[in-house]
Parts: sequence; C-alpha cells; structure tokens
Amino acid sequence: MSSDASTWIHQLAGRFIVFDGPDGSGKSTQFRRLVRLATDAGLEVCEVREPGGTYVGEQIRKVLLDPDHQEEVDVRCEMLLFMASRAQLVQQKLRPAIAAGKLILADRFISSTLAYQGSAGGLSTDDILSVGRFALNDVWPDLFIIFDVDEKTAAGRLNPLLDRIELKSAEFHRKVRQGYLDQAKADPKGYAVIDARPDENTVHNQMLETIRQRLTKG
Ligand code: TYD
Repeated sequence: MSSDASTWIHQLAGRFIVFDGPDGSGKSTQFRRLVRLATDAGLEVCEVREPGGTYVGEQIRKVLLDPDHQEEVDVRCEMLLFMASRAQLVQQKLRPAIAAGKLILADRFISSTLAYQGSAGGLSTDDILSVGRFALNDVWPDLFIIFDVDEKTAAGRLNPLLDRIELKSAEFHRKVRQGYLDQAKADPKGYAVIDARPDENTVHNQMLETIRQRLTKG
C-alpha cells in the first residue's frame, strides 16, 4: 500500500464515501483501488454499487439498463426504480454496516440520480431529494467524490458494449457532467471534485489526498 496512506487510512472506519461521475470517468477503477487499499490496511469495508447491490436491486438493475427496451422509459419511473433499489440497499446493507462501524464505499448513489434524472433528465432537485429522503431514511454519505472528465476522454474509456443509459446523446452526457459540478458547487462541504483526466495513478493520488484532507486529522 502507499506508505503515505498507511499512516491515516484507519481513521476512515465508520465513514461513508460515494464515488460518482459521468460514464467513462474512471471512478470504478479508483473505487476498486480504494477498496483494496482499505481492506489491505485491515479496515472492515462495505462496498456497494448502484443500481444493484442486493438481490432485488440486481433485478431492478436489469430492468433499468436493458438496451433492448422497445419503448422509452419515463424519467419518473426511472427515478423511482433507482430510488427503490437504493432503499433496499440502505436497509439491507448500509444500515447494518453503519451499526458495525465499517467503512462504506459506494460506486454511485443519489448524486447519480440528481445528475442523470435531474440535471439531464429534467426532474427537479427538490422532487428527487424528497423521494430520496424517504428512500434513504436518514442515511447520508460523509463525502461525495466526483470524478470529473471531459466528453472526449470519457468516450475513450467506455466499453464498446454500451448500456441503455450510456447510449443517450452527447447533449445528455454534457448535462450529466454539468449536473455533478452544480451539485458540488451547491454543497462544497459535502462534495469534492477531482480532475479525472490524467492517468490512473495521478488521479489515485489526488483522490487519496482529498480524502485525507476532508475526512481525517492528517
Ligand atoms: P453501470 O454499468 O453501473 O455504469 P458505471 O460503471 O458507469 O457505474 O450503469 C449505471 C448507469 O445508470 C450509468 O449510466 C448511470 C446510470 N444511473 C442513473 O441514471 N441514475 C442513478 O441513480 C444511478 C445510480 C445510475
């Protein structure tokens, strides 16, 4: 493990960190690296990904990401399905992990709904947050880390087998990116934005430094 992180990473026990960003931002790679780093350091980690992470959530995931949908999925229906999957995740996985003092690392969370169904899909922040408050039932992350990337870099990182949401227009993805930046601007204490354009190791070091500064005593 990075010798630097070994001095402070244990302080993350009991914290809840979300990794989020546009498709192709590389957040999932960084997510896996932090899971590994924390696990190797002896922390108990609860790692979850959205949509999914529970049996019922994985069924909802299949419905949501199926590229063969013959009809447009209404954005309200889409938002409620993402939130339904999240409600199950909170009750089944996150609440017990919080009670056990584990480090919770989530690949996407309500910040994705605010960006995709909100900023890009047209739903209001207030509507999403009011459904979100009901679904999350007082569980809220300590920090949202947004991996920010321009479209060209993101496109180069995407798997050629795109899912239903990744197949949406360039304009949609521009709004998604802007949506994340707007969330961070509105809540600078709860969010950190990382420039995800550089190579993997550079982004990793930036991410560690951000976490150290924001969630530990140094
Ligand atoms: P996934 O294959 O998990 O993508 P990634 O590896 O980028 O996380 O697919 C998740 C897709 O669902 C992704 O395009 C973002 C979208 N999404 C929403 O539109 N709203 C949400 O609330 C969530 C959690 C994801």
